[in-house]
Amino acid sequence: MAFRPVCTVGQLPPGGLTEVIIDGKQLALCNVDGAIHAMDGVCPHRGGSLGQGALHGNMVVCPWHAWEFDCTTGQYDYNPCIQLTKFPVLVEGGDILVDLP
Ligand code: FES
Repeated sequence: MAFRPVCTVGQLPPGGLTEVIIDGKQLALCNVDGAIHAMDGVCPHRGGSLGQGALHGNMVVCPWHAWEFDCTTGQYDYNPCIQLTKFPVLVEGGDILVDLP
């Protein structure tokens, strides 16, 4: 595993949600009151791109059928047994780095 830069803090202001693709892997990045979170960006329902959805508080809403995931845990709100992989995040010198396998 290694931390890799994925975007800048300026590209992800508080309340922001974005998608990044690193080596073909989709990630959803969000900024909840200054805390950056990274998780798997592919919705386990039908494959929607979570980073292209909406962020309400700490909940990422899938743009396709509105399943909601807590970006602080990766859990699906309706069934916490469904959990997206989260990835460690570092902020260094204005860059956001994610520890990817
Ligand atoms: S694909 Fe995400 S809710 Fe259906």
